[in-house]
Amino acid sequence: MDIQKLLSEMTLQEKLGQLTQLNAIFFKHDNTADITGPTSRLGIEESDALYSGSTLNFIGAKDMKEIQDIAMAAQPHKIPLLFMQDVIHGYRTIYPIPLGMGCTFDEELVEECARMAGKEAAVSGVHVTFSPMLDLVRDARWGRVMESTGEDPHLNGRLGAAFVRGYQGNHLQGKYDIAACVKHFAAYGAPEAGRDYNAVELSEHTLRETYLPGYRACIDAGVEMIMPSFNTVGGVPSTCNRLLLDRILRGEWAFDGIVISDYNAYREMIRHGVAENEKHAAELAINAGCDVEMMSATTYLYAQELLAEGKLTMAQIDRAVLRVLDLKNRLGLFENPYRAASEQEEAELHLCPAHRALVRRAAEEASVLLKNEGVLPFSQKAKKVAVIGPFAKEKGIKGFWSCAGRDEDCVTVLSGVRALLPDAEVATVKGCSWAVDETAVPDLDEAIELASEADAVVLCLGEYQEHTGEGNSRATLNLSPAQMALARAVIKHNKNTAAVIFGGRPLVLTDLAEIVPAMLYVWQPGTEGGNAVARLLFGKANPSGKLSMTFPRAVGQCPIYYSRMHTGRPVKDPKVVTQSGYCSRYLDMPVAPLYPFGYGLSYNTYTYDNFTVSDDKITPDAPLEVAVTVKNEGAYEGKEIVQLYIRDKFASVARPVLELKDFAKIELAPGESAAVIFTLTEEDLRFHTADGTFASERGEFEIFVGPDSERLMSTTVYLEK
Ligand code: NOJ
Repeated sequence: MDIQKLLSEMTLQEKLGQLTQLNAIFFKHDNTADITGPTSRLGIEESDALYSGSTLNFIGAKDMKEIQDIAMAAQPHKIPLLFMQDVIHGYRTIYPIPLGMGCTFDEELVEECARMAGKEAAVSGVHVTFSPMLDLVRDARWGRVMESTGEDPHLNGRLGAAFVRGYQGNHLQGKYDIAACVKHFAAYGAPEAGRDYNAVELSEHTLRETYLPGYRACIDAGVEMIMPSFNTVGGVPSTCNRLLLDRILRGEWAFDGIVISDYNAYREMIRHGVAENEKHAAELAINAGCDVEMMSATTYLYAQELLAEGKLTMAQIDRAVLRVLDLKNRLGLFENPYRAASEQEEAELHLCPAHRALVRRAAEEASVLLKNEGVLPFSQKAKKVAVIGPFAKEKGIKGFWSCAGRDEDCVTVLSGVRALLPDAEVATVKGCSWAVDETAVPDLDEAIELASEADAVVLCLGEYQEHTGEGNSRATLNLSPAQMALARAVIKHNKNTAAVIFGGRPLVLTDLAEIVPAMLYVWQPGTEGGNAVARLLFGKANPSGKLSMTFPRAVGQCPIYYSRMHTGRPVKDPKVVTQSGYCSRYLDMPVAPLYPFGYGLSYNTYTYDNFTVSDDKITPDAPLEVAVTVKNEGAYEGKEIVQLYIRDKFASVARPVLELKDFAKIELAPGESAAVIFTLTEEDLRFHTADGTFASERGEFEIFVGPDSERLMSTTVYLEK
């Protein structure tokens, strides 16, 4: 399609339509109630809605084809719609929430999962997914931490790029390739007090140094689209933030793809108090660099006036429209507006055995073994197993933002254990609900009875899927009194108990950790959750996940993260309560978290030895080789995530106490050892210096290698320039 020619033939109304995205419901003629409702609230007529260039929130191939037919019939130039959707961690077959995927430290697995999700979505008619989410997250109160791969810029960037490669495949040329949209630009993960949509206050230094690299990694990986965030940064909503959109994104990063606003975000600038009215909102957003407006119609309604007043130019509108037409063209929609949408392929692919096997593996690799005092793995010969707790039979374990995923598709822990141990007697009781503030414990007696009689107890606790995600911030992170009472009662009567904890964020597990012999954190594991949990508990699979987000001891420690800055008055031992004052302490608890970034146990012990660096100097021309030998001292096949950190000892600006620079996931048979060799270059040592340049500074660097961000071996090298 010659899109320049098409553009030259389009009316202004058609062009503005291409810059407007509406909910799928707007295209359904048969749904008059919704048409007159939402459309009138946007200030447009039904006929206007049909000019819109893209849509979201439709359901499956049949729906997509119907809507495409309706829209194209109404379009003067028969321009096909772009169909977008939040495919965040699977389409119908669901893998763990992204925070869990972060704990896999596994780019290949992430790419494979994204590819699978993209394929299922493509056959359901999706052209663009609003994923990956690259918001750096350091405060577990924020419900959307579940959508991020975690607290670290390096890890997030590598996994974000893997998501993009998985979705976009061969530059959208493959039948099942879909476009990705990185979000939410920028720093949406740092809202004040962890409350969703709240203001973000960051220096430009911290923004550039810590919060932007993840988004940038996705741009470098070729992501097609980007979504500004709802929040203000330094008082300016991202939707009209010229520093972010114009100077950094379009200018420094030379991004020429589509910028799409978040849902109703143009109009929310009025609530933020920076846009006077809808017309002003359109002016601000477009002039900052936005192309497409999601779920409001200020561009459509007011751009003509703004053009006449000289507040916008036709060149701006044309450039934005061309970006939209170009994506449609490269997706092949002008030739085939249904693209890969196929009811038959939906039936073949959704929840197919290969996809289920993949998401089960992902759920196994995302799970983190937090504690194990010789309890796990349970014997596969167990005759009597008790599966107790609010998540024992809970099917709502797929997680927030599961797109077309359904609770009824999910395998519960109870079903997983029963399937794995067909000869065992597996009894269950709920004991209490998962309500955040539940206090009543109705079935304690039955829980005690089952626990007392069992060879092994699986205690399924945690947080329900709808208690994280958008709009779901929490001011407390503890397990409810009821869940703790249940745990105490069960553990008292059977020490062979392992807690399996579901959660969309790091919960505060300090009290539970003191009493329970073993804890496996399984996040919201997705469709195959129960099978993955059973295989991990009974030793068919070996936990290998490592935390991509720090677990606090108490909510009062939030935000908490390993890559913190030095303080001039550090405590002597962060693991104990410091008694004397005038240092950076809490009176009532240690400074250290309960579980640090990068932490996670296995059924094996891995020893680290022969830590060497190839030189005591590093120069721009001579990178450093950092080597370590890791040995599996255990009895199981296993995977270990080996981590490389640095500390810049002295610089023109304060540097973090530790920064992850590389990691490797290795697989070892019992008794096997392997040398892991990292290459560290001068580029890895660069940062935003005091004069604002991105450069390294000569001097001493400590190099650390180890299994997590606390247990580290170190040496010092000198950067010569
Ligand atoms: C609002 C969310 O912030 C964003 O992440 C999502 O993509 C859009 N809604 C569309 O559903």
